[in-house]
Amino acid sequence: MYPDRNEIACDCMSVTVGDLEDAVAAGARTVEAVVEITKAGQGCGACGGCKELIKVILSKTQ
Ligand code: FES
Repeated sequence: MYPDRNEIACDCMSVTVGDLEDAVAAGARTVEAVVEITKAGQGCGACGGCKELIKVILSKTQ
């Protein structure tokens, strides 16, 4: 199931799904670009979970 906008996407950096969607809407087209804008994925560095979610959100908008 696709997560809600208000759901936390990245626990470490307190980034929501909506923050990721907004970054993509603002023009981010790669995982790296979304990470740079939102800071998601820069916390634990090992979880990988939030980066997978970024990929899902990117694929949804392409
Ligand atoms: S949950 Fe995103 S960096 Fe750890």
